[in-house]
Amino acid sequence: MNGSLADIVRQILDTSPRTGDTKLDRRTRWVKVAEAALQSGPGDLLEIGALAGDTTVLLCPLAEQYGRTVLVVDPWIAPTHDVAGWEYDAFMRRTEDWRSRGILNVIKDKSQKPSIADRLKEPVWAFALIDGSHERADVLEDAMTVHAARVLCFDDMDRPGIRAAYNEALLLMPGRVGIFDESVGWKWEAYIV
Ligand SMILES: C[S@@+](CC[C@H](N)C(=O)[O-])C[C@H]1O[C@@H](n2cnc3c(N)ncnc32)[C@H](O)[C@@H]1O
Repeated sequence: MNGSLADIVRQILDTSPRTGDTKLDRRTRWVKVAEAALQSGPGDLLEIGALAGDTTVLLCPLAEQYGRTVLVVDPWIAPTHDVAGWEYDAFMRRTEDWRSRGILNVIKDKSQKPSIADRLKEPVWAFALIDGSHERADVLEDAMTVHAARVLCFDDMDRPGIRAAYNEALLLMPGRVGIFDESVGWKWEAYIV
């Protein structure tokens, strides 16, 4: 692959189609960026916050194609802002095949819990999607836990807490490149490469 990973990510963002369905567009971009990260070196895929698995089921075939795995961390506590109560069962049903084949591993807990964060710290992730808690402190903690990931992706940048955490994380990671531009069509997410 030619060019730096940051250039490749920018190119993916600038050339990805925009259907008007922001979440669908985001997932399409994440899969492309995750593939670029997989092509750039070793490491697995991490999704913090998976809800009903709409992104997980896209990441699993990609991981399989590259001989890697996906780890999902989510406490699925209902009722919270995102979780109504049916999502965990739906997630487990639709990911059964991926889990049984060892492509997908699931931790049902908060990513900030010290014993869980310790497990997330160790591997160098190719791509880490930070899409769990919306609290600034939690998002910053998640980012610093997985700071060695070649690509960190922060979703929901319209939320002030997430935006603040992204900006703080970037300052704490000298030498890394931040990719976020609220004037363009992919303004919903930000990347640290
Ligand atoms: C926006 S949804 C995730 C959407 C999913 N990534 C997708 O693309 O469909 C947020 C998820 O984060 C989870 N979550 C909330 N607090 C969390 C925490 N402290 N650690 C990990 N996940 C958390 C919620 O249970 C919920 O399932």
